[in-house]
Amino acid sequence: MSKNIERKNTVMADYLDRIGAGKVLLTKEPFSYDWTPPELVGRNAQLDELASMFMGIENHSVSCRAIITGNVGSGKTVLTHRFGIDLSSKLEGRRKIVLSHVNCRNHPSTSQVLQQIALSLDSRHPERGFSSGEIVQSIRRNLKAHDSHLLLVLDEVDILVRRDSSDLIYKLLRIDEGQDEWGSVSLILVSQDTTLFNLFERAIKSRLGGSAVLVLPPYDADELIGIAKQRYEVACRPGTVGEETLAKIGRFAAEAGGDARLAIELLETAVRRAEKAGRGDVLADDVRPSTRRAATIEPSQVHELSKHQKLVLLGICRRLKKAEEITSGDARKLYELVCEEHSSKPRGYTTFWKHMKHLAAEGLIESRTASSTQGRGRTQYVTMTNTAPAALESRIERDLLHA
Ligand SMILES: Nc1ncnc2c1ncn2[C@@H]1O[C@H](COP(=O)(O)OP(=O)(O)O)[C@@H](O)[C@H]1O
Ligand SMILES: [Mg+2]
Repeated sequence: MSKNIERKNTVMADYLDRIGAGKVLLTKEPFSYDWTPPELVGRNAQLDELASMFMGIENHSVSCRAIITGNVGSGKTVLTHRFGIDLSSKLEGRRKIVLSHVNCRNHPSTSQVLQQIALSLDSRHPERGFSSGEIVQSIRRNLKAHDSHLLLVLDEVDILVRRDSSDLIYKLLRIDEGQDEWGSVSLILVSQDTTLFNLFERAIKSRLGGSAVLVLPPYDADELIGIAKQRYEVACRPGTVGEETLAKIGRFAAEAGGDARLAIELLETAVRRAEKAGRGDVLADDVRPSTRRAATIEPSQVHELSKHQKLVLLGICRRLKKAEEITSGDARKLYELVCEEHSSKPRGYTTFWKHMKHLAAEGLIESRTASSTQGRGRTQYVTMTNTAPAALESRIERDLLHA
């Protein structure tokens, strides 16, 4: 009896295996944002430079610092992931490294960042009622008790600094001050914003002073081809994506600013198109970058929007990078999140709707109304066919930063 069930389960599993595995695709995983490739394409020089900033890290008294900047898709996040993994395995047996990577876009407040660090240390959540200074010191005690060194990456750190000042960074930089000779925390600060340094108060600047800034240049077409090829080789059946297809992806992504994310997205949608058509080969014609039209939006069109119109649009862009369309209800929620990040109070519904109408009138978004399938009423769907959400997103972010 139980054997029968077991057999049934196996049959069931075989049949489920076919979901998502088509003529081209083997696994979708390499297309996801948090897949770290075993090797980075075209970043040897930058990894070398980062390594030189971490000279001496094998010694227990040493802590290091680095600042990494570069445009969206220049590989800042993946570089820090790769470096963290490589460093901790290199130091195995010599120094125990605990990795903590906090994306301040997702955890924008001081207490949220501290909570994320605590989670990486596998300790209890910091208890309520303690100051950030006290929590930082308890992190230090925890590290020392486990004879560990924390490599902390604060990614998109400008969001934390703009929201909560650089107080936490200051405390982390001083974590060992007045203590015995022992380095607790190495810090890598990551930001898209090259003026990040200006956000810091003088006391921080002088402490960071010695640490060099690593600027990641945009990728050129060949590097983008290499990046797309690397994903293709892991995600797809051999021989399904040809040179010509990869070349087109590389060319377009290079023209759009050297964004690796775009190259990967172009590959993914091209694969999807071929699969949908039932083909076993991905043609150059399957690569259809809607981003080509990004240029039709003038920078001034973004600049002339009011702050809250920008915030509404920013929320929409972020979601449309991953989805074809979103509901107006989601647009509202995303707007509220973006407001929180920018320490702005969200406007009421009436104003929000006015902003949505304005964005549509400007041709920045399109909306269609459909009768809702659930319950009564009609739902409005928002799409963006005139421009690439990712390109528009970075334009708005840059604009808000320099407002
Ligand atoms: N040199 C590289 N080699 C392989 N993949 C890369 C490289 N640079 C970036 N990627 C991939 O491109 C995408 C965007 O990179 P990411 O590190 O998120 O950029 P950023 O943080 O600068 O916006 C990720 O999926 C990442 O894995
Ligand atoms: Mg990043």
